[in-house]
Amino acid sequence: MRIGIVGAGQLGRMMALAGIPLGIEFAMYDRNAGVPGAAVADIVTGEFDDRKRLARFARGVDVVTFDWENVPVASARAIARLRPVWPPPRALEIAQDRLLEKRIFQRFGIPVAPFASVDSRADLACAIGALGAPGILKTRRLGYDGKGQARIRRARDAAGAFELLGGQPLIYERVVEFTREVSLVAARDRRGGVASYPLVENEHENGILAVTRAPYVNARLQRAAERRNGRLLRALGYVGVLCVEYFVERGRLVANEMAPRVHNSGHWSIEGAETSQFENHVRAIAGLPLGSPRPLGHAVMVNVIGKKPQARKILGLTGLHWHDYGKSPRPGRKLGHVTFVTGSRAARERVARQLRRRLIS
Ligand SMILES: Nc1ncnc2c1ncn2[C@@H]1O[C@H](COP(=O)(O)OP(=O)(O)O)[C@@H](O)[C@H]1O
Ligand SMILES: [Mg+2]
Repeated sequence: MRIGIVGAGQLGRMMALAGIPLGIEFAMYDRNAGVPGAAVADIVTGEFDDRKRLARFARGVDVVTFDWENVPVASARAIARLRPVWPPPRALEIAQDRLLEKRIFQRFGIPVAPFASVDSRADLACAIGALGAPGILKTRRLGYDGKGQARIRRARDAAGAFELLGGQPLIYERVVEFTREVSLVAARDRRGGVASYPLVENEHENGILAVTRAPYVNARLQRAAERRNGRLLRALGYVGVLCVEYFVERGRLVANEMAPRVHNSGHWSIEGAETSQFENHVRAIAGLPLGSPRPLGHAVMVNVIGKKPQARKILGLTGLHWHDYGKSPRPGRKLGHVTFVTGSRAARERVARQLRRRLIS
């Protein structure tokens, strides 16, 4: 079995690191060869809309997946005529457009923040009038790590926000006064079996995921999230890992966005769960049985962003696992992550505080 991954960033790299012990081979496709995946697989270089090169790449593998959700949907559909593509291109299409994504959530009875489509200043004034402020103006496409967003605290911030983002399709969302942010990663296999990880709690800094704590134990919300993710997985005929980010507002889950791929908030599962999200994604798309997503303890994952600490310092903390993605440092760039798994929540909190101090300043 040979899996082709379109996009060869750290997610593709971690998929291969999980799949190689299962006897699976990997090939990756990206715009240039100096990518994290190059350490573990051959890289075919080309543009993501170069159908000819993508077709040649696809013919060399048995099944194709992605580590980046912004691969053009037309490319994904073209590959799907040659080889199975998981997750299905439809899932990419939905995740690429925040407006479509929210509409799909609504169609499946999944609550979302009040929102409106914005294509002009007049639309924005109208949206703020109807939904109120504070809100967030976001680009419908290509936003990530909080990029492509502007906060609107009161109506008079509208002009500045539109100045910043206007000229492309936008969406205005009411700010959700959440008590916490959580996410649910679930894998679906080719026969429709689903393995759901526990909910995890996510802390963002400047729109970028900083810390994930797993599990976030709340049986009622766990059931609700599993039902919702399950509905999406089934409706989309999904195979592979899907992550949905939720806000917890007054004890209820409000969906924020979905990622049709392995997700940063699931990295803790490499050491913190019986089977990691990466292994389960690979198993699912390879047609293998899913492994148990059961957590092995209380895990904390901290992202290393912008500046890389010395490995010897990190590894000097007993029990800490360090994942260096092999990327060159740049402000705001995810360079790696660390994970610590322990037996109690209290011990996890002690380490989380220590890691925050050392890694997030
Ligand atoms: N409607 C909202 N209400 C409150 N906070 C929000 C809202 N939308 C986004 N945020 C905050 O910004 C972060 C990033 O926004 P998100 O929509 O997830 O975009 P990205 O694709 O950059 O992850 C969220 O995790 C959350 O902290
Ligand atoms: Mg997000």
